[in-house]
Amino acid sequence: MTARLVVEEAIRTAAAVIARSRHVAALVGAGLSAESGIPTFRGEDGVWTKFGEPTFDGWELFNHDPKAWWEASLENAAQYSDFARSLDAAMPNAGHYALAEMEQHGHLAHVITQNIDDLHRRAGSRHITEIHGNRYLVRCMTCGGRDRLSTISLARIPPLCHECGGYLKNDTVMFGEPIPEDALRECYRQAAIADLFLVIGTSAVVYPAADFPIMAKRHGAALIEINLDDTALTDIADVVIRAKAGDALPAIVEQLHGRGL
Ligand code: OAD
Repeated sequence: MTARLVVEEAIRTAAAVIARSRHVAALVGAGLSAESGIPTFRGEDGVWTKFGEPTFDGWELFNHDPKAWWEASLENAAQYSDFARSLDAAMPNAGHYALAEMEQHGHLAHVITQNIDDLHRRAGSRHITEIHGNRYLVRCMTCGGRDRLSTISLARIPPLCHECGGYLKNDTVMFGEPIPEDALRECYRQAAIADLFLVIGTSAVVYPAADFPIMAKRHGAALIEINLDDTALTDIADVVIRAKAGDALPAIVEQLHGRGL
């Protein structure tokens, strides 16, 4: 079989598995947003491959001196990296819209995304857990409440939560920072109840995110991987689609429509 036929067959199989599943969850990574112009982290053009991983002291600095952290982060925003620029310019792509459509038609219950770009919400997905946060939100370090960054006053640094007075921090999860409790709880819940996990555009090397499909698999869920390359989860995937997420996901939706679903 040619590579194209292998992909087409995998897409047909994936649609059939999705159609007969009861609770489908997705774990999404940077590969989904690559077609929106946001570079991935690892791989040839990955931001960390090119520039190295960020320094590990952000979380420590915030805990030690939140005012200094906010000042540094506002100064960084003023310098405005290419990566940040690509995030702010990005629009949802066909893959994001296909996931939103699957949710609207009852074929996808929940998206766990490692991406901080807000593109799932903008594409129309509703049940989303942003396990690494959202670049456009702030989160209270005391009560966990979230707000749009654009709506809070930065006249006072660090800004304070209007609910409980705790310190606010950008919602993006930094190295060393614990995953927000509410997000983690929802991910474990999805891992426990899903009978199918879609693993889309992630190298699946960052934990705990990579663990959720593994946990689901352990209790009998099927795994469908959509990725351009092999990943840490390829060996345990039941269906592997070696294609761009922006091509594969709309093709799956088309197959589901073809089945009258
Ligand atoms: P990576 O950069 O590690 O992996 C991106 C994956 O997407 C790779 O496996 C690529 O093969 C695949 N890929 C690239 N383009 C694709 C496309 N068009 N369609 C399908 N797949 C494609 O990104 P993540 O796995 O998301 O966390 O990285 C996980 C976490 O690492 C990030 O959330 C980030 C970092 O630590 C934090 O910053 C907290």
